[in-house]
Amino acid sequence: MQIVNSVSALHAQVKAWRQQKQTIALVPTMGNLHQGHISLVKHAKSVADKVIVSIFVNPLQFDDKDDLSAYPKTLDADSQQLGANNCDLLFTPTVEEMYPHGMTAQTTVTVPGMDDKLCGQNRPGHFDGVATVVTKLFNMVQADIAVFGEKDYQQLLLIKKMVADLNLAIEIAGGPTFREPNGLAMSSRNQYLTEQQREQAAELHRTLLSIQKQIVQGERDYALLQQQALERLQDSGFTPEYVDIRCADNLELAKEGDRELRILAAARLGKARLIDNVACNLA
Ligand code: PAF
Repeated sequence: MQIVNSVSALHAQVKAWRQQKQTIALVPTMGNLHQGHISLVKHAKSVADKVIVSIFVNPLQFDDKDDLSAYPKTLDADSQQLGANNCDLLFTPTVEEMYPHGMTAQTTVTVPGMDDKLCGQNRPGHFDGVATVVTKLFNMVQADIAVFGEKDYQQLLLIKKMVADLNLAIEIAGGPTFREPNGLAMSSRNQYLTEQQREQAAELHRTLLSIQKQIVQGERDYALLQQQALERLQDSGFTPEYVDIRCADNLELAKEGDRELRILAAARLGKARLIDNVACNLA
């Protein structure tokens, strides 16, 4: 596996692969890789000849400076895992390489309708930062397909909308959420949890599954389900931000009669801000 940190070296390799008629898949990450990321790399390898993984902790998407400085950096372990899982090229640009004129001078990308709800409400500017860096990565790599995890479901839909709105010539694929045996969604931020909090944190997924079950059984008072879930999380020691039942394709609030739903939540536990979501498809 090659490791490159400049856009020019990346371009040289991509150009060579293109001349050899190789297809390319991109998996954008912020590093601190876990099984969920590796499953995205495996998916990427199953759909393209060459896989490029980027590791870049993007300051533009952090609304909280302490969260940015505390974000775990584990490049050696990450590159070992990627090398063992058929990644062909690891792209690790510096902040200066990504934002050569500084972040305030950077042209940014906004995805209206997707950026101001759910996580966007509590993290101002976060999704502009995501959309901007992902657009830059797409332009730098010129991949055929990019793979993102469904754990960040709002991010996945936002990127799909951005690609459609801007006619970007790339296909977007989603990969399933990987979970700990107790149901906790794998996340780099789980490291901020103590052993006891890791057990407690699984209540977030159980709460979503309980809503899913009640909807499948016929409950349609979504406001009530959301309120009960917020109370359940509070009673379990979380500080919940939201628990919402939304339409799976556009994240509008779900109404009775909508069939393809997504139940999403964000909550703080100790030092970690956790997010999770589950699908709920009604026949
Ligand atoms: O999901 C992430 O890790 C990041 O938001 C992404 C897509 C790599 C952009 O920085």
